Amino acid sequence: MTPARGPLRPLYAQASGSPIRAMLALAGREGMVSLAGGHPDPALLPAEWLRESLLEVAGQLQGRSLQYGATEGLPALREASAALLHQRGLAAQAEDVLITTGSQQAIDLLARVLVEPGEGVAVESFNYPAALQAFRFAGARLVEVPTEAQGMDVEKLEPILQAEGPRVLYVVPNFANPTGAVMPLARRLRLLELAAHYGVTLIEDDPYGELWFGEAPPPPLAQLNQQAGSPAQVAYMISYSKVVAPALRLGVLLAPAGIARGVVLAKQAADVHSGSLEQLTLAAMLTSGRLHSHLDSLRPAYAAKGAVLAEALRMHCGDLLEFDEPLGGMFIWAKLSNALPLLPTQAWVDFGLEHQVLVVPGAAFSISGAAQPWLRLSFANPAAEALRQGAERLGRGLRKLATTA
Ligand SMILES: Cc1ncc(COP(=O)(O)O)c(C=O)c1O
Repeated sequence: MTPARGPLRPLYAQASGSPIRAMLALAGREGMVSLAGGHPDPALLPAEWLRESLLEVAGQLQGRSLQYGATEGLPALREASAALLHQRGLAAQAEDVLITTGSQQAIDLLARVLVEPGEGVAVESFNYPAALQAFRFAGARLVEVPTEAQGMDVEKLEPILQAEGPRVLYVVPNFANPTGAVMPLARRLRLLELAAHYGVTLIEDDPYGELWFGEAPPPPLAQLNQQAGSPAQVAYMISYSKVVAPALRLGVLLAPAGIARGVVLAKQAADVHSGSLEQLTLAAMLTSGRLHSHLDSLRPAYAAKGAVLAEALRMHCGDLLEFDEPLGGMFIWAKLSNALPLLPTQAWVDFGLEHQVLVVPGAAFSISGAAQPWLRLSFANPAAEALRQGAERLGRGLRKLATTA
C-alpha cells in the first residue's frame, strides 16, 4: 500500500521555507546586526510624502473608491506607471500596463500562465529565492545558466537552450539579487537574439534598476526589444518596493498582449485586484511629481552605505573575502577564501548567533541548495555605524572559522 499523503500537495509538503525569512526572524534580537535582509533603510522610506498622500486620499474617499476595482489596476496608477516606463524608454500606454501586488505576484502569475508542469525555466546559478520558489510551485524544471560578474553568461546559453529547451528564461539584468551584477549592453542584445531564435519568453525582473550609484545601467531588454522591432517575447516588471515603500505591495507588469491576458485571468483567480487604497495613495504620490527628487536623494544615500560596508569589509575581512564595489542596488556578493570551510545554511545561522551578525550564505540562492563559497551582504537596511560593526564582527568570525578549519 502506498502511504497516504497528508493534506498538503507533495510540492508544498516537501518545500523548505526561505532561509532568509528564518534569518530575519533573528534580525530583531537585541544587539544583532543584520546584513541579511534586502529591506530598505527605514530612515529612507518616504513616511512624510506617504502620509500627505494618504491624507489627500482620505479626504476624497467616497463610496466609489471603496468598491471593487478593475483587475488590471486603478486607471490613475496605470497612467502614472506608464509615464514612468516611458522615462525608461519604453513605449507603454496606460492600457498596456498591469498593476500587481508587488513584483513577486507578477513572477508568480507569469510562472502559472507560461509554464506547464515539467517544462523548463532557465535561471542563473544564483537567484532571488522567492522567484525560484514560484517557478517550482508552478511545476517548472529549473535549468541552470552560469552567472558571473557581468550577470548571466550568455555565451554559455545557446547550447543549454538547445539541450534543455526551456520555455521561459528569468533574468534580473540590473544590480541582481544576490550578485549585484549588471548585464552589459552587448549581452542584453545577444540574449534577445537567442530568445527570439529559440522561442523563449523572457521574464525581465527589474526592481533595482533605478538605484544606480555612478551611472544608469543599460536600457531594459524590453526597451531594446521594442526599439529593434525584434520578435522576442519580453515580460518586464518594475517594483515600487525599493523606490517608494514595500508596505504598499505594488508592482507593474508590461507584457505582450497575449501574455497580459493570461496574467489578468490568473490575477482574477488570485486576488481579483491589488488593494485600491494602496493604489490610490501611490497614484497620488506619483502625480505629486516627487518621485524624481526622492530618487535623487535615495541614490547617493545607498551609494554611501555601499561604500561604508565595502570599506569596512576591506578593513576587517581583508584576505578572507573578495568582492566588487557595488554599482547600485542593495547587495555586495562576496567570495569566501579557500582558507574557509564550505558550510551549510544552518551553520551560518549559528555563526550569526555566535558573532551577532547575520549574513546569507550562497546556498540560499543556488538551485541545488548545496553549500557555496559566497555570502550576500546587504548594506541597505542597517545604519552606517551598524554596517561597520557588522563587518568587524564578520571579520572576527571568519578568522575564527579559518583557524579552526
Ligand atoms: C529580484 C527581486 N525580484 C522581486 C522582488 C519582489 O519585490 P516586491 O516587493 O515588488 O514583490 C525582490 C524583492 O526583494 C527581488 O529582490
